[in-house]
Amino acid sequence: MLTKANKRELTEVLLASKKKYRPAKKILAEANIKDYNAIIKKSLENPIKFWEEAARDLVWFKPWRKVFDSSHKPFYKWFIGGKCNLAYNALDKHIGTKIEKKLAIIWEDETGRSRKLTYWELYQEVNKLVNALKKQGIRKGDRVAIYMPNIPEIAVAMLSCAKIGAMHSVVFAGFSAKALADRINDARAKILFTADGSFRRGKIINYKEFVDEAIKECRTIKKVIVVKNNKNKVKFNKRKDIWYHDFVKGMPTEAKCAQMDAEDPAFVLYTSGTTSKPKGVVHVHGGYMVGVLRTIKWVFDLHGDERFWCTADPGWITGHSYIIYGPLLAGVTTVMYEGVPDMPKPDRIWKIVEKYKVNVFYTAPTLIRAMMKYGAKWPKMHKMPSLRILGTVGEPINPEAWEWYYKYVGKKRCPIMDTWWQTETGSNMITPLPCATLKPGSAGKPFPGIKAEVVDKKGKPVPIGKGGYLVIINQWPSMIRTIFNNPKRYIKTYWQEIKGAYFTGDVAFKDRDGYFWIQGRTDDVLKVAGHRIGTAEVESAFVSHKSVVEAGAIGVPDPIKGEVIKAFVILKQGVKGSDALKLELRKCVRKEIGPIAVIKDIEFVDKLPKTRSGKIMRRVLKAKELGLPLGDTSSLV
Ligand code: WT7
Repeated sequence: MLTKANKRELTEVLLASKKKYRPAKKILAEANIKDYNAIIKKSLENPIKFWEEAARDLVWFKPWRKVFDSSHKPFYKWFIGGKCNLAYNALDKHIGTKIEKKLAIIWEDETGRSRKLTYWELYQEVNKLVNALKKQGIRKGDRVAIYMPNIPEIAVAMLSCAKIGAMHSVVFAGFSAKALADRINDARAKILFTADGSFRRGKIINYKEFVDEAIKECRTIKKVIVVKNNKNKVKFNKRKDIWYHDFVKGMPTEAKCAQMDAEDPAFVLYTSGTTSKPKGVVHVHGGYMVGVLRTIKWVFDLHGDERFWCTADPGWITGHSYIIYGPLLAGVTTVMYEGVPDMPKPDRIWKIVEKYKVNVFYTAPTLIRAMMKYGAKWPKMHKMPSLRILGTVGEPINPEAWEWYYKYVGKKRCPIMDTWWQTETGSNMITPLPCATLKPGSAGKPFPGIKAEVVDKKGKPVPIGKGGYLVIINQWPSMIRTIFNNPKRYIKTYWQEIKGAYFTGDVAFKDRDGYFWIQGRTDDVLKVAGHRIGTAEVESAFVSHKSVVEAGAIGVPDPIKGEVIKAFVILKQGVKGSDALKLELRKCVRKEIGPIAVIKDIEFVDKLPKTRSGKIMRRVLKAKELGLPLGDTSSLV
């Protein structure tokens, strides 16, 4: 795994690890936390106490009896006996305070439409929807699916579910009808939220059409609630569909908040793994809000008045934690943009930063690289004086993109927080803080309270500068609690690979200063433009086509998207490979998974390299494709 192919990377990394940026005086003077190493050291003397103190920043209806319980490991528990509610902390707690009048959400779409909601307005909207959902029979523990564009109603829907104690399951709207149906069925969701459409690159995407197709296969869905976003003409099934504005019409603007147990599930979010079936990652009310609030406050150095813009989509964990819950828990303003970054021109992003005076900007390496391609002249046209802190997430950032981001977006004033974390971790895990010395390309050290390590297969730490498996060796409040309806898979995926540690699936190096350099995944998970896609899912999409017998998918490096997919396909006897068939197969993958599964290349082959047990050796396919040494092929047949 980490043999010859990685040696070159290691030399590069070690060279890069010497380059350092000290925090600007102004940033340091203003920082809530001023000494990176001291705060980490202190937190690690007693991580449980550290998180207990963090939990005091939130409102609890009843305090916890015990902070941490490991008696049923790996089903760890936090804040046992505590009663709370995630939505209460994001919204209700601000009502009657100064924050009430502040903007909670600033939204803009590609066409330039804009909406602003104060905390008070958002609170009322949520209450109306809570009452409407309750009237519809939604109760604590029920599941509600959400398949929507990045519009304020997605926040309202998520918060309303949390307030009732129903679990939301947000499905990114870039997934296909088939992928949506699978996720609805796994969660047995009763209600589905969607919209008539969304503008992207000037065209309307008709989400309702995908939804109609999906729910043909979903027996559990009782009602589809449709937001009128584009005045797009959509088919309406009077028995099942209801317009959002009719659904909430006349509903009272006050609603009771459910008192949840700290360990009650708040939501499920599906993510790709190594099999073709996505995993429903479950997060809970108590620990999740503690992890998210503490990280957003410290990593992005919030003082309380920020305008925070995270460019992710609410359909991913980044959106859950740092578009919706994080900013609202912290009582700051969150910016939502529904559109592509280069419309009408490649400075759209920087224009929004200036227009809304964004202070914290959190994005993905793939967006930075896409902007780099257009050239520095676009960010140079905008001074963006409001920016203080920048962030990146989703995949490793190459030092070149880091430097560009630092120079042209941050104007050498703003530190970059390269935050490593996962759907499963709930909040930032390895990241600098604004007071830290930065190294372009490194995610820094573990966040206070987190013990991460780079180990070999046996769980033994590898020497400094050597590659190995990235693991987390203690527990943290916002960690995944289980896989929905599949606790066995939870144990197997995260706790059995490396003894005594949480297995991240990533490969990393640690340098002499204790900084982590994440190299990417070790398993069969791809990162296409930061989106997580399983090779097994892609292969099963290919195989669903009548002409395909078998397929092997790998990720190949791409200068902008990080990785794109190449597939090796064995056709049924008698079927001839052609460009027309390639096109058909691409369409088939799009239908099965969605447009996020970008297939760069398809190659028709007669045979795939396999182990004796019949598993496709993607490692070999990849090495061949990239012209790297094949490594150990002794188990090949
Ligand atoms: C995987 C998790 C929660 C973040 C959004 C993606 C990769 C994430 C970084 C980073 C290098 C990163 C890892 C991780 N990743 N952030 N800063 N540097 N790699 O969440 O879809 O659950 O993916 O994204 O490979 O395991 P996700």
